[in-house]
Amino acid sequence: MSTENNEPIMARPLSQEPPDVAATVRGHARLERNVTLLGIATLLVVAVGGLVEIAPLFWIDTTIEKVQGIRPYTPLEQAGRDIFVREGCYSCHSQMIRPFRDEVERYGHYSLAAESMYDHPFQWGSERTGPDLARVGGRYSDEWHVQHMTDPQSVVPQSIMPKYGFLRDTDLATSEMADKLRALRRVGVPYTDRDIGEAMADAILQADPEQDAGDFAKRYPKAQIRDYDGQADRVTEMDALVAYLQVLGTMVDVNSAAAQEKLATEKGR
Ligand code: HEC
Repeated sequence: MSTENNEPIMARPLSQEPPDVAATVRGHARLERNVTLLGIATLLVVAVGGLVEIAPLFWIDTTIEKVQGIRPYTPLEQAGRDIFVREGCYSCHSQMIRPFRDEVERYGHYSLAAESMYDHPFQWGSERTGPDLARVGGRYSDEWHVQHMTDPQSVVPQSIMPKYGFLRDTDLATSEMADKLRALRRVGVPYTDRDIGEAMADAILQADPEQDAGDFAKRYPKAQIRDYDGQADRVTEMDALVAYLQVLGTMVDVNSAAAQEKLATEKGR
């Protein structure tokens, strides 16, 4: 093809052989035109990629960084958690503070993976009709919670949260406690035989400061023993739910100097 004779430049006629390209490119052309070959090659490439990503997970114990202070929920807190799930509180409340400035300023330190490592099922959520509850523990008094749960509009007049006062009139079913803990142990929560054996008694004594706590505090460090719902003579579902709300976000002292330092030196941050 030339322009010497002022001939218009034309595309190469279709019949002409394509220019001789490198062997690899020819090989690839064959691959692209043969659906079986292409399928096998794709499988190979995906398998290698998959192995590189997945295989290391088989050799490490956990993908969650250890954080000091995390312990399994006490039977009472766990029962409260089950009530939280049963009542569908998660449909309005998330439990995951994302590492964004607006969230951290409103709710506190962003959630750490370890903080929900014993949650089955987790309550992260993406719906926030109400505020995030990941760090609500200790923010209000027990009385506030009981009042708010019984009649939310009496504390926050414009609240659209439903009333849950019946929880205060419902005795907690403590007989299932051991089975609950046993089921959780199956999925990796490190409850001991003693925790399971004492589950029912533990649930009752955590809501009754008059009882002898035995080694409860040793097995569940920093667990708070008190009458949560203001009815000393019975253990209700309200006791359990408030005990659960009050422990949320309090196990790790994210604001201590040591914790801040550790977070700052964490790899990749
Ligand atoms: C229909 C949505 C809805 C449901 C369901 C709901 N809430 Fe709420 N919740 C709200 C709203 C809205 C607020 C904010 C106004 C207020 O404080 O009442 C709120 C506030 C709260 C607060 C105070 C949080 C803070 O930081 O001030 C707590 C604690 C709470 N809810 C617990 C619960 C629990 C426990 C349940 C289940 C038993 C529940 N909520 C079910 C909507 C809901």
